[in-house]
Amino acid sequence: MTTTRIESRTQVAVVGAGPAGLMLSHLLARAGIGSVAVDLRSRREIEETHRAGILEQGSVDLLVETGVSDRVHRDGYRHDGIELAFGGAGHRIDFRGLAGASTQLYPQTDVFIDLADARARDGGDVRFGVTDVAVGELRSDKPVLRFTDDGGTGHEIRADFVVGADGSRSLCRNEVPETERTQYFREYPFAWFGILTEAPPSAPELIYNHSPRGFALISQRTETLQRMYFQCDPATDPADWSDDRIWDELQSRVGANGYRLAEGPIVSRSVLPFRSFVQEPMHHGRLVLAGDAAHTVPPTGAKGLNLALADVRVLAEELERAIAAGDTAPLSTYSERALSRVWKAQHFSYWMTTMLHTLPDATPFDVRRQEGELASVTGSTAGSTFLAEAYTGWPGAR
Ligand code: DHB
Repeated sequence: MTTTRIESRTQVAVVGAGPAGLMLSHLLARAGIGSVAVDLRSRREIEETHRAGILEQGSVDLLVETGVSDRVHRDGYRHDGIELAFGGAGHRIDFRGLAGASTQLYPQTDVFIDLADARARDGGDVRFGVTDVAVGELRSDKPVLRFTDDGGTGHEIRADFVVGADGSRSLCRNEVPETERTQYFREYPFAWFGILTEAPPSAPELIYNHSPRGFALISQRTETLQRMYFQCDPATDPADWSDDRIWDELQSRVGANGYRLAEGPIVSRSVLPFRSFVQEPMHHGRLVLAGDAAHTVPPTGAKGLNLALADVRVLAEELERAIAAGDTAPLSTYSERALSRVWKAQHFSYWMTTMLHTLPDATPFDVRRQEGELASVTGSTAGSTFLAEAYTGWPGAR
């Protein structure tokens, strides 16, 4: 335990240097506001964590228009629709035709690398690999962030505001007293088995595949690397699954709808949990929460990163107001503005999840009813447009 601490101050102390924390400090810097961002993980650890790969148009615009990087256009792939596969066939949802928008396939790890590079390029203060992180005096005018840096030196930073962008296992959100917060949870009785495989793409667009054996998602990364997932029991141990067993399971699920996957060596495998979570409000005293620290969505529909970026775009504006006025009222405006999008995304992620996955105790009625729901969505311009607008990020909400 360190006894001496270096004392300093900044305007905004950010706990968490993932995409939410780094994008926030980038946006604040553009508004002339100083910040320090810290993270328990090393830069390398964050880079090596596989996450989702789909960006809404508004997320792409935020990266490009604020000068983070235009690599998302050069190295990413534009997708103008998805396939919903069920009942023996694929059904295309045409995002461009229905919602006038597209998505970009560009992995979250690349978004992180672009942001970390941009903060380094612009002289931003980001400390990876710190320990002993604690925040305090949140109801005072000068809240504090304490941590030990990767060289073992203790720090105490006084700030005007503290932001908890510290992910789904957030320590900051627990600083809000129980009497002043509401937490909403939903658990799901399944998880995703995710793989990366060295193979060519199996289809031009993503396939969201419903089958009586369970859901499968065929996504992509590059011309030579593909990302795929299939619904599994949350207790599944990835080590129990050989490459052959994984391919048999994936092929039988997509085969039910007439697809055949191009196979290759499986270079990564892991099980991803499913949960819905929201904590309201997204502020307390001079503490504000952003991204997964305040809300988690199940992965179906890839809303997690997009929501985090949407949060910090609004938060940067409201923090600018709060700092100019020396007032905390804009934090509650932030919470209200962010939560309206959060709950739409909660509904969308829940809806996509429950429409496409097979419950462990599903009856034949349940499966046929889901096929009826999917036929209603794909067979109706109104239904397909609803999905296209939500998937691409809601028009007017950019
Ligand atoms: C990916 C993940 C998702 O959850 C999704 O809905 C689409 C794509 C991905 O990792 O590529």
